[in-house]
Amino acid sequence: MYQSKITGTGKYHPEKVLTNDDLSKMVDTSDEWIIQRTGIKERRQSDLTKDEFPSGMAYHSAKEAIENALLKPNDIEIIVFSASLPDMLFPNTASCLQDKLGITNKCACIDVNAACTGWVYGMTMANSLIQTGVYKNILVVGTEMTSTFNNWEDRSTCVLFGDGSGSVVLSRADDNDTAKIYDSVLSSDSSKLDALILPNGGSKSPVTAEILEKREQYMSMDGQVIFKNAVKTMSSHCATLLKRNNLTLDDIDWFIPHQANLRIIETTGQLLKCPPEKVIVNVEKYANTSSASIPAALHEAVIDGRIKRGQKLLFAAFGAGLTSGAMLLEF
Ligand code: UT7
Repeated sequence: MYQSKITGTGKYHPEKVLTNDDLSKMVDTSDEWIIQRTGIKERRQSDLTKDEFPSGMAYHSAKEAIENALLKPNDIEIIVFSASLPDMLFPNTASCLQDKLGITNKCACIDVNAACTGWVYGMTMANSLIQTGVYKNILVVGTEMTSTFNNWEDRSTCVLFGDGSGSVVLSRADDNDTAKIYDSVLSSDSSKLDALILPNGGSKSPVTAEILEKREQYMSMDGQVIFKNAVKTMSSHCATLLKRNNLTLDDIDWFIPHQANLRIIETTGQLLKCPPEKVIVNVEKYANTSSASIPAALHEAVIDGRIKRGQKLLFAAFGAGLTSGAMLLEF
């Protein structure tokens, strides 16, 4: 069995900043409420005239990740693309990204949708493809244009989300490399499908004039169900990974949880007994960018020098489904 390691990272966030004060002019909310309940100060919003749809944002983060891996676009053998809402229903967004990156090797392209957990699902699949010798270089992307399915008249959700992209190149490790993916765990709890849902716009319920009139083309969420489930599943998945790899939190250098809400991040850290200084947080700048949040936060911490080669990292995510997942690795 081969081992895989992260050889390159990249991120992209749209230029346009929406502050909490900007939102308080659109809905009945305040900077104070948003900061107190979520820790979010601002988020980025895509501009379609600047190609900031999923494959357009992913072009920038993927290009950076491929360059940082010291590879050329044509070295990529499969693109695994996580997006909750793709560029279009088909062709898939991974194929659109192949085109944008100028990849001419006809590499495999697949989209993964596990909502905010999608990138951890994609990484787990990519790791298996490397372990079994199928591929040597895989591009794993998480990119989200949440502003499309955000109801900008619903204060209980619109303050929470932002747009962005994060990418990683996962490559076959050399025999003498210590860097590797140790383990991962994935789950989904379909007893809570309605807790975070975008029910209209797919095959089961195409968008009609009536849906548009009732403004039901957007997502809806039971925030408290998601909150409780998030802290429970993320902490238990991380505990499972540590236990079955004979490690403790003392062995972990950095914990990167899905950046949805500072209170969720802090509560999960407390349940895990993880010192706050080991937790990577950037939710205040970008809000919840769904499956882009972990790869983008990873890239930021690699670039600013916090995350170094040889360190052990723990990722954990949760989202609609209700999906959840965690991954343990040496960078
Ligand atoms: O990737 C997964 C995505 N989803 C999440 O991560 C969401 C997880 N859940 C959460 O983050 C939290 O549940 C929220 C931030 C969504 C809400 O925080 P909360 O502490 O659970 O607040 P709440 O829902 O209990 O609402 C408290 C009050 C309500 O008013 P009343 O009923 O007490 O009068 C809400 O109407 O806050 C009100 N409220 C707001 N007030 C000002 C809800 N949204 C806002 C708002 N501004 N934006």
